[in-house]
Amino acid sequence: MVQIVKNNTSRPVTPHGILVEKLGQITEKIAKGESIQEIQTIVEDAYNLAAGLEPYISAYTTSESPELAELTRKTASEDWSKRFEDRETVRQLEQEMLSGHVEGQTLKMFVRMVKAKRVLEVGMFTGYSALAMAEALPDDGYLLACEVDEYVARFAQDCFAQSPHGCKIQVKVAPALETLQNLVDVGESFDLIFIDADKREYIAYYQMILDGNLLAPGGIICVDNTLMQGQAYLEPEKRSANGNAIAEFNRLVANDARVEQVILPLRDGVTLISRVI
Ligand SMILES: C[S@@+](CC[C@H](N)C(=O)[O-])C[C@H]1O[C@@H](n2cnc3c(N)ncnc32)[C@H](O)[C@@H]1O
Repeated sequence: MVQIVKNNTSRPVTPHGILVEKLGQITEKIAKGESIQEIQTIVEDAYNLAAGLEPYISAYTTSESPELAELTRKTASEDWSKRFEDRETVRQLEQEMLSGHVEGQTLKMFVRMVKAKRVLEVGMFTGYSALAMAEALPDDGYLLACEVDEYVARFAQDCFAQSPHGCKIQVKVAPALETLQNLVDVGESFDLIFIDADKREYIAYYQMILDGNLLAPGGIICVDNTLMQGQAYLEPEKRSANGNAIAEFNRLVANDARVEQVILPLRDGVTLISRVI
């Protein structure tokens, strides 16, 4: 059983810890009815600390390739709401789904660290993370990307065609669970698996990957959005359906003796999972 302990006794020494301390001071001062002037400096400090973090990380992370920058630009220039407004089953797609520079570079580093030759992506969207990982694969490396939406699959493939690494990517357009089952049936395995599709299916993807031996020995699973905008650790009443699904997924992984895992507070949370049994 996982227990969450809020530790507020030690001196904060990280940007996040200092931010928490400052927000705590602000809350206390407001409760005491202190004047806005008393509070303003701490609010400004807290804002600068929070607002500066991601731009700083991005500025000091290796730059993305021109092809990834172009894919981002193309994704941002598409009016996704308009594209899908007339559909019967609206599968909401939006440019914010794209993982982007820092997460893409992190995934590239993971591909190199595990010396991956075979990568599986579950949930591709316009292909940012797929292309980022493909850039780190060796020439004989291979990435299979699962995507259910035909339009984004074509969009991504057009972008891959502009990159010297795009030929390493194969796209399977189908519900991911169907594709995973087919991969299990033919005995495939992957050195790195990136899960980033339907949050409510995360547990099913995870079980199929572990039970079906889709993860090669020494391989890692990376799972995106495992903080889900902070909902993972908020009270259940404050969670959306996706927030609940992620909280349940995190609980399941934490209680699974077959694996070791760590949640990295990168972007919306990325969990790394390796199989130990
Ligand atoms: C968050 S986006 C992926 C972002 C992408 N990994 C990136 O870094 O840019 C999730 C994608 O999963 C797809 N998806 C949702 N449910 C799916 C399913 N059941 N099977 C396959 N793909 C699915 C959506 O169409 C969407 O394109």
